[in-house]
Amino acid sequence: MGMDATLPAPWRIAWRRPESAAGDVFTWAVEPVDGTGSSFLPGQFNMLYAYGIGEVPVSISSDPAGTPWLHTIRAVGSVTRPMAALKVGEVIGLRGPYGSAWPLVAAEGGDLLIVAGGLGLAPLRSAIYQALRRRSHYRGVYVLYGTRSAADVLFADELAAWRDGGQIEVAVTVDRATPDWSGEVGVVTRLIHRAGFDPATTTALLCGPEIMMRFAVLALQQRGVPDKAIHLSLERNMKCAVGYCGHCQLGPHFVCRDGPVLAWPRLSNLLGVMEL
Ligand SMILES: Cc1cc2nc3c(=O)[nH]c(=O)nc-3n(C[C@H](O)[C@H](O)[C@H](O)COP(=O)(O)OP(=O)(O)OC[C@H]3O[C@@H](n4cnc5c(N)ncnc54)[C@H](O)[C@@H]3O)c2cc1C
Ligand code: FES
Repeated sequence: MGMDATLPAPWRIAWRRPESAAGDVFTWAVEPVDGTGSSFLPGQFNMLYAYGIGEVPVSISSDPAGTPWLHTIRAVGSVTRPMAALKVGEVIGLRGPYGSAWPLVAAEGGDLLIVAGGLGLAPLRSAIYQALRRRSHYRGVYVLYGTRSAADVLFADELAAWRDGGQIEVAVTVDRATPDWSGEVGVVTRLIHRAGFDPATTTALLCGPEIMMRFAVLALQQRGVPDKAIHLSLERNMKCAVGYCGHCQLGPHFVCRDGPVLAWPRLSNLLGVMEL
């Protein structure tokens, strides 16, 4: 970590772009005002602070091998909506990176299965870039992505490029078909039943709404993927992000410190309370 873990450092918005046709999601590229370099692992997140407004946890969505760092944000509430109005060149506070990472190295040698729902593709985008760079170290790489409608598809150009590049298999499905959508319709778990991965060698990385992840775990178990090979990224309300305040507690885990990426055996007995 290249900075004091609890003090936001000033970072500048280098560029921004809308990320979905629906218009509620945008990506920020940010760079440190003092030019200090830092690194992160796919799956980790930063605390982003809009000065005078508030601070929120946001995953890093960029390729870990590159700069600037990207954050892909849905404008939903009292902090993220004002963030959406900030302009290129303005300065935000950033502290991090925090939390656990996707087990991409441990997954090498087998199939890598990425299952994303909605905005859950953001923290998995950095994992996809790392997997592409080390493509020869995996058997198959599968990306299964489900979202509400065609207008909500994130990173649409990249999904098409990954699919056309032939190095990874990409399947996208939407909950609701609209006239501009000619692809799959239905929940992402249907794609799990069809995908060509080998359950015995698969490591599965899941991120999305908790209800979607629970059904995805069931589908993976039905296919024979071992529980210890299933990893979920969780979201909880956070304040300190460094294991002090307890805001993010889930059973025995502090999601900010022990997560956000946790293996399914550490979560399975919390299934009934996961939506608390
Ligand atoms: C580890 C971690 C990683 C995260 N990564 C990302 C990320 O990459 N991109 C991102 O946009 N968000 C991410 N989030 C969620 C993000 O932190 C919240 O969306 C944010 O804190 C909302 O703050 P707010 O003050 O703007 O909204 P609030 O004022 O707190 O919420 C306003 C309303 O929006 C609802 N809401 C809150 N969060 C969400 C949500 N995620 N989706 C839909 N409705 C919601 C609330 O229930 C409430 O009704 C992550 C959270 C965690 C814990
Ligand atoms: S946010 Fe404070 S302990 Fe996790």
